[in-house]
Amino acid sequence: MTAQTTPSTASADTAPAGKCPVAHHGYEPFQMNDPFPSYAALRAEEPVMFDERIGYYIVSRYEDIKAVFDNWETFSSENAQAPVRPRGAAATKIMNDGGFTAYSGLSARIPPEHTRIRSIVQKAFTPRRYKALEPTIRENTAALLQKMLARPDRKGDFLKDVAYDIPTITILSLLGVGSEMVPTYKKWSDSRAAMTWGDLSDEEQIPHAHNLVDYWNECRHLVADAHANGGDSLVADLVQAQAEGAEISDHEIASVCYSLLFAGHETTTTLISNTIRVLLGHPEQWQQLVADPSKIPAAIEETLRYSPSIVGWRRKALKDTEIAGTPIPAGANILLLMGSANRDTAVFEDPETFDISRPNARSHLSFGFGIHYCLGNMLAKLQDKIVVEETIKAVPGLKLAEGEEITFGENLSFRAPTTVPVTWEQ
Ligand code: HEM
Repeated sequence: MTAQTTPSTASADTAPAGKCPVAHHGYEPFQMNDPFPSYAALRAEEPVMFDERIGYYIVSRYEDIKAVFDNWETFSSENAQAPVRPRGAAATKIMNDGGFTAYSGLSARIPPEHTRIRSIVQKAFTPRRYKALEPTIRENTAALLQKMLARPDRKGDFLKDVAYDIPTITILSLLGVGSEMVPTYKKWSDSRAAMTWGDLSDEEQIPHAHNLVDYWNECRHLVADAHANGGDSLVADLVQAQAEGAEISDHEIASVCYSLLFAGHETTTTLISNTIRVLLGHPEQWQQLVADPSKIPAAIEETLRYSPSIVGWRRKALKDTEIAGTPIPAGANILLLMGSANRDTAVFEDPETFDISRPNARSHLSFGFGIHYCLGNMLAKLQDKIVVEETIKAVPGLKLAEGEEITFGENLSFRAPTTVPVTWEQ
């Protein structure tokens, strides 16, 4: 695989001697349409590359990424939720004036605080709690599919028509929020993704800053409401745990809500969209699932490997160290390209091929690895499985609409399609 020739801000002449002449090996931090050729070039030519455009060391090989995830004492996650671009003065003022003090629920916290909060949240975040949602997820999916299939022009956007709402309804019900709030939370979450991992100008940040203030105030309100009225929700469980002596403050519970409400749906909407998109792009494998739905879990693991919702996640070096022989100074920011790890030939045979019968697809790093391993991975896969099962039942002849280009929004970490245009036989 050769490096792609995407134009870059740096001159090709600046490439170090003996390295690929394409600047940064074709890697463009915020470009998500097809980053995979540049990942292959990075792995082959400069597996640990300092990218001065964003100030991050970019790590692209599987074993190196797994080792960094696993070594939390040297590589802390405290920068995982920091804005990639500094907050402008106007956005900062809006957030300060609005009382915005949200902090990461878990992913940017470090031990011992992380260990303490994770063990409390894990007890509340049980399979029992989210498995109870299965019939509702199924009903909602079937209803959304029927609505889409009722269109006389036989044209839909699977992302907006089905994948967009399902994970949001799920996470809102876990947290005790009604589904009428879906559009509001979606708006807030989009702002969170843009403000943290996006490339916004100071002016563009302003409306998002207002949304983040509203989002945080709502999280605080959920905690206050659980104190006042109890209820059957994850927030009420955390408030109850606190009453029974668990060491977690109201601010920490609100921060967990702030995190879960975001982590719980953006990525899962993308997973559902990608599963349908990639499978329909490989119609013979879609037909295998139609014939034998027991293959759906394997197809989901392969989608997570081949087209992960999150392609890069961050860490910070706490001391002078090295990764694969490249010196890394204390304080350095590091971007771990899991989207690249998942296509490393050292681990996956013929990795550029999507293959639902791949024996080791589950070895992907799309949920991270180690102490911060995604807490919601089973919930995400459960929802995706239900959606694929219901879709196969309702419309086995679903196809990607011909001639429509699928693009991906610009972002450092999240690789999400903007549409999944589909069609079907009547
Ligand atoms: C396809 C869907 C999802 C993907 C790809 C994904 C991916 C990730 C990744 C990469 C991390 C960071 C791991 C690390 O730093 O080592 C993470 C952490 C986390 N995820 Fe997910 N996630 C998904 C769905 C969910 C869902 C549905 C929830 C909750 C309802 C959730 C909750 C969390 C939480 C709480 C953490 C922080 C864990 C910690 O720091 O201890 N995620 N996820």
